[in-house]
Amino acid sequence: MLILGIESSCDETGVAIYDEDKGIVADVLHSQVNIHAKYGGVVPELASRDHIRRTVPLVREALAIAGIEGDELDAIAYTAGPGLIGALLVGASMARSLAFAWNCPAVPVHHMEGHLLAPMLEDPAPDFPFIALLVSGGHTQLIKVEGVGLYELLGESLDDAVGEAFDKTAKILGLGYPGGPALAALATKGVAGVHKFPRPMTNRPGLDFSFSGLKTFAANTIRSCDDLNDQAKADIAYAFEEAVCETLAIKCRRAIKETGYKTLVVAGGVSANIQIRKRLTEVLAEFNGEVFYPRPEFCTDNGAMIAYAGYLRFKAGETSGLEIKARPRWPLTELNAAGLM
Ligand code: KG4
Ligand code: ZN
Repeated sequence: MLILGIESSCDETGVAIYDEDKGIVADVLHSQVNIHAKYGGVVPELASRDHIRRTVPLVREALAIAGIEGDELDAIAYTAGPGLIGALLVGASMARSLAFAWNCPAVPVHHMEGHLLAPMLEDPAPDFPFIALLVSGGHTQLIKVEGVGLYELLGESLDDAVGEAFDKTAKILGLGYPGGPALAALATKGVAGVHKFPRPMTNRPGLDFSFSGLKTFAANTIRSCDDLNDQAKADIAYAFEEAVCETLAIKCRRAIKETGYKTLVVAGGVSANIQIRKRLTEVLAEFNGEVFYPRPEFCTDNGAMIAYAGYLRFKAGETSGLEIKARPRWPLTELNAAGLM
């Protein structure tokens, strides 16, 4: 069984092919970083226009890498949401049209389900049930996962997502877009103990998060800094990252105690962060548990996770009709168990 996956929810066009027997056999990506960098963030209209330019060439490239023709595909999966509506519509209409032309079904995929299931492309893969920590530019969620589509929200950010906090703090520090990786790189040069940032919402019960205060704390720290030289910036980046790591660690520890599950899956763009990986690996070791991450290139947006989530949904008998499905807002918990659409 061969499934093509198309991702276009934000600023990356990703196309991949999943082979039921061999796994991912093609995975190509075009990042729009250069287009948006000069604006300091994603410009939705420019994102949509670039997806239009990139999708068909990437599909051709993926087919060539896999050594197959389009009409050999069993289904075409595409990101139907959540994301930027214009960007989603490009991928969705291309996927639906290609499926029509090649006479195969189209499978709409939830972007965050793609992220959540991406660690299952690795070896070893996690077994259900597990706790998922989804940390991306738009989401910070702790989810109890019992199977594909069996998701119970344990907690989420009440304001900024972790990735958003990374990006905004990076911007205040004068780092380029995308800020997360730039801030993480700068933090490696920071000195421990110079600043102590708060660990938001950890002194009250529950599994919700709040990250917008960290950005404000960073702004205030910068303001009170007499000489904002490179070392001073690195120290702030270090303290910010440390606060994020510690906050996530505290909440994950709570989620493990609450559910009794000892498997943690961490996914989404921010799961590429090395310090977060390190800290959460330590937390799971406290419980003799195990933590699973996608390989770094499958942490941020990619076509492989969409092809794989689409494969699981298609195998369970799910396809859509001729409709082009795109939902900018789409809570993960609205999904049904695979096969019960
Ligand atoms: O999953 P993703 O590619 O797109 C969304 O679905 O949002 O996540 C992008 C987010 C951005 O906020 C980016 O700054 C952040 O992930 N990110 C990182 C790192 N790599 C990407 N944040 C911290 N450290 C990193 N190494
Ligand atoms: Zn994403």
